[in-house]
Amino acid sequence: MAAKIIDGKQIAAEIRAELKNEVTTLKAKGITPGLGVILVGADPASMSYVTAKERACDEAGIYSDDNRLPAETTEEELLALVDKMNNDPKINGILVQLPLPKHIDEQKVLLAIDPDKDVDGFHPTNVGKMVVGDKAFLPCTPHGIVQLLMRTGVKLEGAEVVIVGRSNIVGKPLANMLIQKSETGNATVTICHTRTKDIAAHTRRADIVIAAAGFPNTVTADMVKDGVVVIDVGVNRVEDATKKKGYRLVGDADFEAIKEKASYITPVPGGVGPMTITMLMYNTVESAKMAGK
Ligand code: GUN
Repeated sequence: MAAKIIDGKQIAAEIRAELKNEVTTLKAKGITPGLGVILVGADPASMSYVTAKERACDEAGIYSDDNRLPAETTEEELLALVDKMNNDPKINGILVQLPLPKHIDEQKVLLAIDPDKDVDGFHPTNVGKMVVGDKAFLPCTPHGIVQLLMRTGVKLEGAEVVIVGRSNIVGKPLANMLIQKSETGNATVTICHTRTKDIAAHTRRADIVIAAAGFPNTVTADMVKDGVVVIDVGVNRVEDATKKKGYRLVGDADFEAIKEKASYITPVPGGVGPMTITMLMYNTVESAKMAGK
């Protein structure tokens, strides 16, 4: 079977068009959704994510307050900026780009964000609400993955889903979303990680495999069954002298080999990536709607 490619750019563009309409309606009521973005340091991957977020907000008509701080910024200075944004009515969502430099306590910073402005969905209040199935800001990458699956028509109810990777940003929240008693859930979920005895034994029986481990070739063709749906969350740079930049981006799954076996697969880039930013904008618009009520 030759897989159909799930076009994340296309699905993201559809949702962004819906959001742009919502922003136009909100602006007519005098409400402009606003996102505060904080980047500490100059990690190249983080810088390109943040630039892409700012550009996407601009295109959708969302105001963005961009703050690029030096790597030596203190925890106190960062907390003071978060506090300022918590109290700024123009800001509906606050995004502190992770990872933060080692001298800053990441959990302390995430806890300082007003849960009503936590558009990343990382605050324990929102994580707790998500787990019990209450309305909450959902973390953007897993929420984007659920949207990709839903909008592609992949059946989740009763599906065997195996997630490879247990991060707080992807694996753990995605598992929680997919087991909810709802039309975007009802799946049977297994999480594999570095201490799993035999990852392939799990992935081979999966209807849907989510590759979110952070290493190229974590999921190979011999590890999946015919007709599997593979969602690749990885973004890894591998050296490639034929490219101008000297590297190319690959995911965590062996795309070329798996696409001969799968029913659907996401490419890297152009799969999950565009969805993450889109769901961030979705949360910011939702937050503006709540604040405007
Ligand atoms: N670093 C990698 N992914 C994310 C994300 O979704 N949000 C934030 N704030 N930082 C990240």
